[in-house]
Amino acid sequence: MEEDLAPQETTEKTQTVVSASDLDETAEKGSYHLKGYTLKGVFDFPIGAAVVYERLKNEPYSSTLKREFSRLSSESNFKFHMLQPKENEFVFTKADEIVNFAQQNKMQVHGHTLIWALDGMTPDWVLNYKGGAKEFDQLLKNHIYTVVKHFKGKVTSWDVVNEALTPNGTYVDNIWLRKLGEGYLLKAFQYASEADPKAKLFANDYSQEYGGKKLKKYLKIADEARAKGIRFDGLGFQMHTVLRVDANMVQKSFEMTAAKGLLVHISEMDVALRYQKPSTFDLTDSLSRAQGAKYKELVYAYLNGVPKHLRFGITTWGVADKDSYFNRNYVNSNHDYPLLFSKDYKAKWAYRGFIEAGLGR
Ligand code: G3I
Repeated sequence: MEEDLAPQETTEKTQTVVSASDLDETAEKGSYHLKGYTLKGVFDFPIGAAVVYERLKNEPYSSTLKREFSRLSSESNFKFHMLQPKENEFVFTKADEIVNFAQQNKMQVHGHTLIWALDGMTPDWVLNYKGGAKEFDQLLKNHIYTVVKHFKGKVTSWDVVNEALTPNGTYVDNIWLRKLGEGYLLKAFQYASEADPKAKLFANDYSQEYGGKKLKKYLKIADEARAKGIRFDGLGFQMHTVLRVDANMVQKSFEMTAAKGLLVHISEMDVALRYQKPSTFDLTDSLSRAQGAKYKELVYAYLNGVPKHLRFGITTWGVADKDSYFNRNYVNSNHDYPLLFSKDYKAKWAYRGFIEAGLGR
């Protein structure tokens, strides 16, 4: 994620759009849960969470998912290296369990991601694979066909490509680009739609919400797909964002996307608070309220910027703060509180702001 692209602001916003006077009786002390409402109950489009497979049986992780969410993504388990760690050896066990959990709880599953357009996120055996365009085309097709067909009817949407463009709107250098040229991207969409004509197909990326060159290029690629008769249903806006992001700018980016008739998915939402903070810091009441206000503004940006028929849904990247990838040392050591639920799974102001936007408050 390139936070530098966000408009710079020096002061933390502490506005309290979400105000304590709005509070109905809360479920528990210290929780901003709105009695009688859940996320999935309030919105008429799916509200998703990205899960970590190893936590699915944990409580209250599992019960929070079941109570609040209607769609699941997985942080890791549908990625190329997880599903095909060796040539033609597909391992579906964990991803299948996620799908079973979702089905048992009447949730949709969004597949993330068929191709991650970075060599660092591509298994070594692919990087070292011998062959030219023909062989790599076959490799791409085989992975996408095998995976998408395996989950056909169960995984109803896919990030076909993840992070394929640079912020300047050029193609990210990777093995597929080097072997197949820029056409690899729409080939991936074509293979995915052949494998499951009903699945909704997305390009997923960060910083498109700034409405810059990257977003414009994706909109061009969508036009190109249409001209070629290749299905390209929508854009995934990751929205790993920060307090200082301007919701009006985000709304404009949604409007530009919707104007092309594309579905809009907020696919990995979180609002980090760590800007200009030491490596660890406390979640103060004012920070928590500012985060609630920001979630509310951003959900409103979605509701105002995307017409109903193009609202694919909003997915948060995790459940409680302690589940966030921010707080896992193997990813980075940046401590944060970016999600809707606190470490003890109580609803934060973030949750409150999110749900109040859905209620039009
Ligand atoms: O499971 C192993 C564990 O057994 C081992 O002890 C540990 C230490 O190396 O590694 C664990 O694997 C980690 C995996 O997450 C577990 O879920 C990998 O190292 C780690 O690299 C991996 O990180 C994921 C990252 O993508 C790379 O795949 C994060 O969980 C995931 O949140 C992150 O998600 C990305 C999206 O796919 C794309 N958009 C940005 C987003 C955040 O970076």
